[in-house]
Amino acid sequence: MNKIKVFAPASIANMGCGFDIIGMALDEVGDVLEISIEDGDGLTIENETNVPLPADPEENVVTPVIRKFMEMTGKKAKVGIRILKKIYPGSGIGSSAASCAAAAFGINELFDHILTEEELVVCAMEGENLASGGYHADNAAPAVMGGIVLIRGYEPLDLIKLPVPGNLYCAVIHPHMIVSTKEARSILPQQVPLHNAIRQWGNVGGLVAGLYSSDISLIGRSMQDYVAEPYRKQFIPGFDTLRKNILQAGAQAMNISGSGPSVFAVANHFEPARKAENLMKRHFEAMGIEYETFVVKVSNKGTRVIY
Ligand code: HSE
Repeated sequence: MNKIKVFAPASIANMGCGFDIIGMALDEVGDVLEISIEDGDGLTIENETNVPLPADPEENVVTPVIRKFMEMTGKKAKVGIRILKKIYPGSGIGSSAASCAAAAFGINELFDHILTEEELVVCAMEGENLASGGYHADNAAPAVMGGIVLIRGYEPLDLIKLPVPGNLYCAVIHPHMIVSTKEARSILPQQVPLHNAIRQWGNVGGLVAGLYSSDISLIGRSMQDYVAEPYRKQFIPGFDTLRKNILQAGAQAMNISGSGPSVFAVANHFEPARKAENLMKRHFEAMGIEYETFVVKVSNKGTRVIY
């Protein structure tokens, strides 16, 4: 086999309280890449979508992923990547991670599964570093592995797949505004006051407990973020009002997805998730901001071969 087509899902990083350490894969939304190998050396990338991507391969996130794969395996090949479907970059639902996961998974398939899933996450993180200036795995790990993944530690990487409650629904809106992950990371203070750290790790524990007990209410009240959201919500006009309305309408939580500008709400049924989606639409429509929305379940499926 020297050619393969793969799908990698979108993902929501942080899940509120889990800055850089928890992320979840979404159903249906994602990137599609075709990857081929032949004898030789080098990498060509063709963008067949109408989403603008850097023309210089050195600026494309898949380049460091393929390089890392070759370095880790000692393999050599002339690699061709065709990007066939692309989540809009800068949307906050793991656009770069989906491409990175697809590239890592696809090349690994073509070389007969030489690397483990965890090693594929290491490759994918190289692309994430290029995109955001940081080695975080909270999009890359769920994109590769599916489901909800806890990154218990980075040195060494320790990935733990958490259970996904069957009734965990997400409403997501991607307002068409630009928030660069690099900037959204650079505005965060390097120190967290102890009283906020206490609240945050209480919430991370509550979130994990809620996932194990399928308690969506516990999950929701644990998702409050005291570390990143207070600084990042300024990028999302009317964030507090939108959240108040969404919680009143029956959703369990609303947070920034990754570094934004997408926001997401979680609910224990399809209906409150749909209501949250409608409120999100009205909120951004009133400000004349274009968007796309979707209501999805969290997916246990990660990156996979498609035909
Ligand atoms: N955890 C990262 C952040 C995710 O919040 O900056 C970026 O998508």
